Amino acid sequence: MLALEVREAIRKRRSIRKFKPYDLPKDKLLEILEAARLSPSYANTQPWRFIVVEDEAVKRKLAEVTAHRFLAEASVTIAVLGNEKLAGSSGGIPKRSWLDMDIGAAIENMLLQATELGLATCLDGSFRQREVKRVLKVPEQVRSGDWRVMVLLSVGLAGEEPAFQERKPLEQLVYLNEFGKPHPGV
Ligand SMILES: Cc1cc2nc3c(=O)[nH]c(=O)nc-3n(C[C@H](O)[C@H](O)[C@H](O)COP(=O)(O)O)c2cc1C
Repeated sequence: MLALEVREAIRKRRSIRKFKPYDLPKDKLLEILEAARLSPSYANTQPWRFIVVEDEAVKRKLAEVTAHRFLAEASVTIAVLGNEKLAGSSGGIPKRSWLDMDIGAAIENMLLQATELGLATCLDGSFRQREVKRVLKVPEQVRSGDWRVMVLLSVGLAGEEPAFQERKPLEQLVYLNEFGKPHPGV
């Protein structure tokens, strides 16, 4: 399979909520995890951990507590954990915001890497923290701070081809030199 350019991967990626049965090769999984490991984080704090959920029973429990069936269908679900205490702090920006930005970067790296490998992904960020932590046996509090499940990233083989969801045009999003001033070049 030919590798996709980054720009193609960005354009090809969709949230896939229906997966086909598929045994995800270990080297592909490792590529995705490596993409997360190499992500940027504030002051290189790397305030993340990743639980790879391969066990069918655990996947089913995750699907149950989140009410998202695709979590059970996907080949694996990667729970992305973040720890506010380990995140950076500077410029009056709260640690939680730095953590969110770091985790966002790691997530996007994984999504694009998976897309390049011909895999489908979906994020799940709407779940009850306590219930997901219980399923994954994440301790409530450890000395290094609280590990929060930031998002669940399902990876597998697409079982659907959803249409592109339109985005706002650049003209609505981009300003030139100052807030609110339209950029004539976009
Ligand atoms: C942080 C985050 C959390 C998300 N949580 C969910 C979710 O709980 N359930 C879901 O079906 N999709 C979830 N999504 C996927 C978005 O709905 C999706 O990215 C958006 O509608 C755009 O569609 P696309 O990904 O196909 O381009 C999440 C996306 C992000 C970035």
